Amino acid sequence: MKKINEMGQEVIDGYLCKPKDYDPNRPIMHYKTLIMICDGERCKKAGKEDKASFLREILKDMGLNKGKNRIKISRTGCYGACRFRQVAQITENTQANGNPNNNALWLKHTHNFTDKKWREIFTYLAEDKVLKDELEGKYFIPMKVYE
Ligand code: FES
Repeated sequence: MKKINEMGQEVIDGYLCKPKDYDPNRPIMHYKTLIMICDGERCKKAGKEDKASFLREILKDMGLNKGKNRIKISRTGCYGACRFRQVAQITENTQANGNPNNNALWLKHTHNFTDKKWREIFTYLAEDKVLKDELEGKYFIPMKVYE
């Protein structure tokens, strides 16, 4: 059976999203918010098996995996902040329509977040709410100010 990815392209057998027709100049798909989930050794151990896929399923269910409020989930290696595992970093696409107030926010202990908490966070991001106004400080990794 023909499999189509989220960009509407036919997918190579055995892959989830790799298109049959490869175009090296194809632009990346729009996203409003990018969330980088640490997939480094320590965070991975603390977190759910394949956290990125788990979060992508929630986004799909919420309809936030595409469109103008799309939230993109990517995996990353160790941030050197393992004591806060499982770490997630939020970046807004301010060149498109992002809210700069949510840029460079670091979430800690995300392995303890429930499905409900993630949905709440995704909703705030989609609605351009200021996350620091909506969530308690305990969810954020503090950053030392350069003196
Ligand atoms: S493994 Fe995630 S910050 Fe080090």
